Amino acid sequence: MLIVNFIDMEEAMHPVEAESGQSVMQAGISHSVPDLVSECGGSCVCASCHALEDEAWVGRLRPSQQHEADMLTCVLNDQPNSKLTCQIKMTAELDGLIIRFVNNEY
Ligand code: FES
Repeated sequence: MLIVNFIDMEEAMHPVEAESGQSVMQAGISHSVPDLVSECGGSCVCASCHALEDEAWVGRLRPSQQHEADMLTCVLNDQPNSKLTCQIKMTAELDGLIIRFVNNEY
């Protein structure tokens, strides 16, 4: 079992278990992680699952695919380490991944 560490907007950490191949969004939603939203269910058409990869993980995730990058241009707080959590698939290399939530509301 793999672990994803979510840090909510109040800086509280929520470690949850994830299966290999499961998206980070799915892992968080299945554990009712606060501040995590998934309006489209992971179809990469809403950007509501936007979050930041922690600085310690920058460069260790695969680069965003074009469609994900296009969707990220629609979010309020797009940053160089922005990700759509539904597009991050868990692998053994990502065990311990740290994801930080940002305010996605306009
Ligand atoms: S859940 Fe909609 S883009 Fe990720």
